[in-house]
Amino acid sequence: MLRNHEAEAIRDRIRDATDIVDLVSEHVQLARRGRNFLGLCPFHEEKTPSFNVNPDRQFYHCFGCGVGGDVFKFIQEIDRVTFVEAVKFLAERAGIALPERSGPSREETEAADELYRANDLAQKYFHHLLLKDDVGTSARTYLQTRRLTDETIAHFGLGYAPPEWDALLKVGGRRGLSPQILERAGLALPRSKGSGHYDRFRDRIAFPIANLSNRTIAFGARTLQADQQPKYLNSPETPIYHKGRVLYGLADTRDAIRRRDAALVVEGYMDLISLAQAGIRHVVATSGTALTEDHGRLLARYARQVVLLFDGDAAGSTAAMRACEALLGTGLDARVVSLPAEHDPDSFVQEHGPDALLKRAENAQSVLDFYLKQLAQQHDLSSIEGKARAAEKLKPLLAKPRDAVRRDLLLREVAERLSVDEQSLRHDLQTALRRPQQSRKAVAEPSPIAAPDPPRHELEFIGLLLNFPQLIPQTTREFAHDSLSDARTQALCRALFNRHAHGKAINLGTIISELQNDELARLVAQCAAQGFDEEQVERQWRDYLLYFQKNALQRRIANARQALAGASDESEIAHISAELVALNQERQAVVAQQSP
Ligand code: CTP
Ligand code: MN
Repeated sequence: MLRNHEAEAIRDRIRDATDIVDLVSEHVQLARRGRNFLGLCPFHEEKTPSFNVNPDRQFYHCFGCGVGGDVFKFIQEIDRVTFVEAVKFLAERAGIALPERSGPSREETEAADELYRANDLAQKYFHHLLLKDDVGTSARTYLQTRRLTDETIAHFGLGYAPPEWDALLKVGGRRGLSPQILERAGLALPRSKGSGHYDRFRDRIAFPIANLSNRTIAFGARTLQADQQPKYLNSPETPIYHKGRVLYGLADTRDAIRRRDAALVVEGYMDLISLAQAGIRHVVATSGTALTEDHGRLLARYARQVVLLFDGDAAGSTAAMRACEALLGTGLDARVVSLPAEHDPDSFVQEHGPDALLKRAENAQSVLDFYLKQLAQQHDLSSIEGKARAAEKLKPLLAKPRDAVRRDLLLREVAERLSVDEQSLRHDLQTALRRPQQSRKAVAEPSPIAAPDPPRHELEFIGLLLNFPQLIPQTTREFAHDSLSDARTQALCRALFNRHAHGKAINLGTIISELQNDELARLVAQCAAQGFDEEQVERQWRDYLLYFQKNALQRRIANARQALAGASDESEIAHISAELVALNQERQAVVAQQSP
């Protein structure tokens, strides 16, 4: 259980992060009336608007029917869900992670607290020096040559670590942060000779790295000198900083990422900042590590598409190829933009402007196209020998997707594109998969977790249709298979619809043998094995239909929201807003039909 005050703090954060006018606008068309907003009450029938939203107090009230409350209450009422569900929904919408049930121990929390305090102090101190102190003059000048505005510098909390060996250690000492704590926080190092510590970051621009609660947990620090090595010094791993799980900028950019349903991934701090300054906000940076599957999973919480924007040079291409492999395991739609060899995203956007960059992102290549293009530079893909080598190099990629259907689709596409025999490629791959890559162990991270099954309700629904095929004709009339969210249950549903359309009987054995896909065969058998209460069948079937329709509408609502965020022209905004309201009304109609 969450301790009370923690639960309260989280609720407050969610409330603060949610704009009630935005939220209500998704359901009601609101017009501004002085400081407030007014519309037709969604909770009772009315012709003249009496539903009032107060943005200052983050509160709604209907003078007609008397309902009122905050954002949680609104969701509870409009979606007919419990308070806990409303908290979950709004937390997700705001990108706030709800804490796991069993939290860290008190000691761990306290130790982590000191590390947060140390990083926070360093950030404030460095930032102050950069903005206000004489010692920061050269850094200020440098950032001007990089064309960063004061606003950008303030927004990203950039700072300057002064040249002395112990400047931060002294400041820390005055605030009760011992050298040992600064060392654990990655900000100081023990002297190799004798005793004592020295500051890790000296005479460098400090880029604070934040976690998703927007607390500073680490730094990347750039030299001001053109030829000094290393160009960047970074915080080491600490109990609060795990490089492989943190993406630079995400706390700041995740709303934009969610709205766009896409994230651009760049390599450098400067790339991200420069893009942000140019108005491109849906960006994260990997900051000095390869993109990991954990990074991918993190991004998958916010968007379905990830566009890799790596430097145009050879190192950039290699990094992009590794990143693709990491992303394929997550089910994200990964794409790659190759920039001209002389550019990184920062210089590209400075030279050609944000629209040119966005255009390239829109036309990004699929992972497979990108791979094939890279391979075509190394092998002659028109020769048998060349194809064989390319196919060999594609194997790590082919093994990546976790679910069998995706793996299968990718394999078919590779076979087609290289015009090699699908069966022999499949055979090769299976042999390769069975023999774990011992020699490549250090490079590849074979995924230990099997693909998660499709949502339980979707499996049950397929099971219901299998067990009661008399429901299928009506289902085909009222239901589109793509209202299901999982590609595998969609495929099964389509298979059932097809059989029905061709007048074939619904027979499990024949279905399995016709599927020709182990994963789907396993799932369909699992579906068929479900038991149902005969008397409840009609009702269950109806409930599933409504449930999937609601979810499908929800996905369309999310898309409309995203389109709205990207819209700039007044009439387009009005058009999408109206569509959003209509979709939400449709959704409410579905919700109203659901049994309690
Ligand atoms: N990096 C690093 N250590 C280095 C060099 C680079 O950790 N010695 C990381 C940094 O996170 C850097 C990223 O790799 O932001 C990309 O490197 P690079 O393209 O060289 O730097 P930029 O961010 O483009 O910085 P700048 O434009 O200031 O050269
Ligand atoms: Mn750069």
